[in-house]
Amino acid sequence: MIALKRGSVMEMNDRVAIVTGAASGIGRATARMLSSAGAHAVVLVDTDEAGLTETAEVINAEVLLVTCDVTSQTDLESLYAEVAGKFGRLDVVFNNAGIVSGPPPFPDTDLARMKLVVDIDLTSVIQSSALAIQYMRENGGGVIVNTASTGGLNPYLSDAPYAAAKAGVIMFSRSCAELHKQCGIRVNAVCPGVTETPILEKTGGGTRPDWLGPIMENIKVLTPEDIGQAVLDIIADDNIAGEFIVVQNEAR
Ligand SMILES: NC(=O)c1ccc[n+]([C@@H]2O[C@H](COP(=O)([O-])OP(=O)(O)OC[C@H]3O[C@@H](n4cnc5c(N)ncnc54)[C@H](O)[C@@H]3O)[C@@H](O)[C@H]2O)c1
Repeated sequence: MIALKRGSVMEMNDRVAIVTGAASGIGRATARMLSSAGAHAVVLVDTDEAGLTETAEVINAEVLLVTCDVTSQTDLESLYAEVAGKFGRLDVVFNNAGIVSGPPPFPDTDLARMKLVVDIDLTSVIQSSALAIQYMRENGGGVIVNTASTGGLNPYLSDAPYAAAKAGVIMFSRSCAELHKQCGIRVNAVCPGVTETPILEKTGGGTRPDWLGPIMENIKVLTPEDIGQAVLDIIADDNIAGEFIVVQNEAR
């Protein structure tokens, strides 16, 4: 884990960025901030078409909306082919789509739901990164940021599958460190603490769960923009590769 220079100015001019989970929360905020930083184009990726359209309204750059289920290899391959064909370049990928298990807590979680958590939160990050790396390696490098979580650093019984998937994202990103020297591709993970987004409601199956109340009383909840700024800082810093950057909740 390393500290970041906060508030660095990113050179995003002419850059093309893909953001998954862009219909909501951290993805929406980061997509907007990438466009404000000067990106030429932001590719908004999600399964939620209505949410993607809302996000597009706050983007100050060329926008491409792609309805894509990140667990689908076919959808991902089409996404990367479409971006390469339309823009002829790809500089930044933010693999951010994610879900939590929701009730009932582990070990009583539905098996299909546990599998989906691992598919979306870990396997899709690996698949999307592989496609991005194959493209970037032939085209002068790039930056990939994968959303993990502080939940991937600390034991978390009630959603152990989520914690395991996010720990996997951290180790996957660290394992890609050498790509920086090999082919100019920097892969890093960002680990948000508790952040005010719709996912918090989903942890209780549509309502904020009781157990979250006491936790949130004692901490300053982060904003999606706090995480977006960390992502921009990671992108801006040419020396960061194979790291996981924690955006911690401060105590109240
Ligand atoms: N909010 C927090 O407290 C917090 C803390 C740590 C990590 N995170 C992580 O941040 C990331 C973003 O979450 P958020 O808090 O903004 O939640 P969110 O629910 O607001 O956004 C997640 C987005 O991912 C999309 N998505 C889910 N499954 C998908 C799929 N199969 N294909 C494409 N898109 C899909 C959803 O439609 C949604 O728009 C997630 O990976 C989450 O685990 C969030």
